[in-house]
Amino acid sequence: MKTPSSTTALSNNKKLIAVFGATGQQGGGVVRALQASSPFKVRALTRNPGKHPDLADEVVEADLNRP
Ligand SMILES: NC(=O)c1ccc[n+]([C@@H]2O[C@H](COP(=O)([O-])OP(=O)(O)OC[C@H]3O[C@@H](n4cnc5c(N)ncnc54)[C@H](OP(=O)(O)O)[C@@H]3O)[C@@H](O)[C@H]2O)c1
Repeated sequence: MKTPSSTTALSNNKKLIAVFGATGQQGGGVVRALQASSPFKVRALTRNPGKHPDLADEVVEADLNRP
């Protein structure tokens, strides 16, 4: 996993939750639900972080085919 490409809201003490598939139908719903009401900051995992810079608190490159 690479260093976060965008980081916001990192100055608080929220626990971090990482979401695979965050750019898809299912994972996107998880991200939106977490951001709407949860004590977590959200790290969205995607193969193409540059395409989704504002998806979550952090957007980080991750590819399950290249662990
Ligand atoms: N949609 C439904 O109603 C539904 C219902 C039940 C089960 N499911 C299952 O839930 C899963 C996701 O469905 P979906 O509809 O949300 O699919 P989707 O909209 O096509 O999204 C697929 C997601 O998988 C990620 N992904 C694909 N290859 C990856 C890899 N090698 N490494 C990391 N991430 C990878 C994509 O991320 P990037 O392209 O950004 O990397 C994308 O976020 C599937 O297994 C599907 O069978 C879906």
